Amino acid sequence: DDSLSGSSCWSAPSNIALVKYWGKKENQIPANPSISFTLNQCKTITGIDFQPKKNTGQFSFDFLFEGQPKESFHPKIESFFQRIFPYCPYLSHFHFSIDSQNTFPHSSGIASSASGMAALSVNLMDLERQSNPSMSEEYFWQKASFLARLGSGSACRSLKGQVVVWGEHATIQGSTDLYGVEFPDEIHSNFNHYQDTILLVDKGEKQVSSTVGHDLMHNHPYATRRFEQAHDNLKAMQNVLTTGDLEQFIQLTESEALTLHAMMMTSMPYFILMKPNTLEIINKIWSFRRETKIPLCFTLDAGANVHVLYPENDKAAVLQFIQSELVGYCQKEQYICDEIGNGALKI
Ligand code: PMV
Repeated sequence: DDSLSGSSCWSAPSNIALVKYWGKKENQIPANPSISFTLNQCKTITGIDFQPKKNTGQFSFDFLFEGQPKESFHPKIESFFQRIFPYCPYLSHFHFSIDSQNTFPHSSGIASSASGMAALSVNLMDLERQSNPSMSEEYFWQKASFLARLGSGSACRSLKGQVVVWGEHATIQGSTDLYGVEFPDEIHSNFNHYQDTILLVDKGEKQVSSTVGHDLMHNHPYATRRFEQAHDNLKAMQNVLTTGDLEQFIQLTESEALTLHAMMMTSMPYFILMKPNTLEIINKIWSFRRETKIPLCFTLDAGANVHVLYPENDKAAVLQFIQSELVGYCQKEQYICDEIGNGALKI
């Protein structure tokens, strides 16, 4: 219905992968399945306002980031619109005013592409639903995730659910390469309110964009074995999440983080995305774990920051440890306390 005009506003969180997505095929199809915790505090809040327009030949939008016009984001949005246009033909019938902000510091090295693309996608589904109010909840969330995937692969894990699987996997019911699905099994209470404290080690611009990074898995000498391993690790992680086996959780999660970085170190060209302080932190985490038996562990994204994961019960002790021993390795002593969250919310 082209006479429609209106607005919507949604927040969508970032997510942190336990089994990593690294390597993709055409059309943002992942080379292996991945699983992530949805975060609760690190979010993008995006409002869109849409007005019908006459000329339907091209896309029309303006974009504000934290209240300021941000030209540098236009090509990203333009190419996102191009990619999803076959699935959202109404895109060319409206002018969009998009207004976005993050709850975490800009250029903190925390990827905003996942939360940003998820927030934009769910807003577009809100618009689509306004002209089709009988749309099912299932369709709404699946398509929101499907669209987000076309914006940034890992963004499809930032829509709905505390633990999300993306990519077809033999033992995960309903899993698909096309969109993220909520982990279907019952999650052990050990993971209730699981904590993620993000240590900001390096806020510099990424040395390697994730597009380039994924591409380096083509012709990578270890790619085939890595993709098989991800399937095995996801199966093992499924078992861990249902049994609450934290020892196995630690082993799998840390191994996955180091494997992600090992893939970057063994590609051509090669990259080292950890910093000296990343390694200092990892070693401190290991000694603290050995001494206290507290089941904390680390994971990493494609950068130098360290995510420290631990049960809510251990929050006081771990934060005390972080404040006394780890903040010195962070840029401006910055860290963000986050925990498992539920996904996108209408505002
Ligand atoms: O969503 P992308 O294309 O930016 O890929 C990000 C991949 C990692 O964050 C490094 C791992 C993951 O599974 O989230």
